[in-house]
Amino acid sequence: MMQTILGIHILSALAIAVFATASLILPLEKDHAVILTSRIIYLPLFITGLILAFRTVHTQPVMTILKIAIVLAFVALLEITLANKLKRRPGIIFLTLIAVLFFLAALFGIILFFN
Ligand code: HEM
Repeated sequence: MMQTILGIHILSALAIAVFATASLILPLEKDHAVILTSRIIYLPLFITGLILAFRTVHTQPVMTILKIAIVLAFVALLEITLANKLKRRPGIIFLTLIAVLFFLAALFGIILFFN
């Protein structure tokens, strides 16, 4: 059962990478469907993440809380950048920060898994 949850979690993380990237680079008139899809993917990502977090928080409380904080920062920055996209194209600093937060979330997840 936990293997399935972890599998769905990793698939959702990969899907968020694809759809978030598409949401950021597609022109305004073509990005609605992918933005909506990336927001729908938040659901399995957070549900599986919370189920996993209830397991890891007992043995690795600090890493688990840091992981969730990093993911919340990722989602917040992504949504702010998408909202600002109406006024101007996303800046390289925001795009880099979003990518760094994504890979940090993945790294913390792998550390949590192997610890
Ligand atoms: C952009 C968002 C996210 C990415 C890229 C991501 C990525 C990952 C990856 C790659 C793993 C390791 C899986 C493995 O080694 O088999 C993982 C594990 C984990 N993730 Fe996420 N995740 C994200 C969001 C979340 C959220 C929102 C939560 C909690 C609310 C969460 C909680 C966890 C936990 C607790 C583990 C450890 C699982 C274990 O040890 O069994 N993740 N994540």
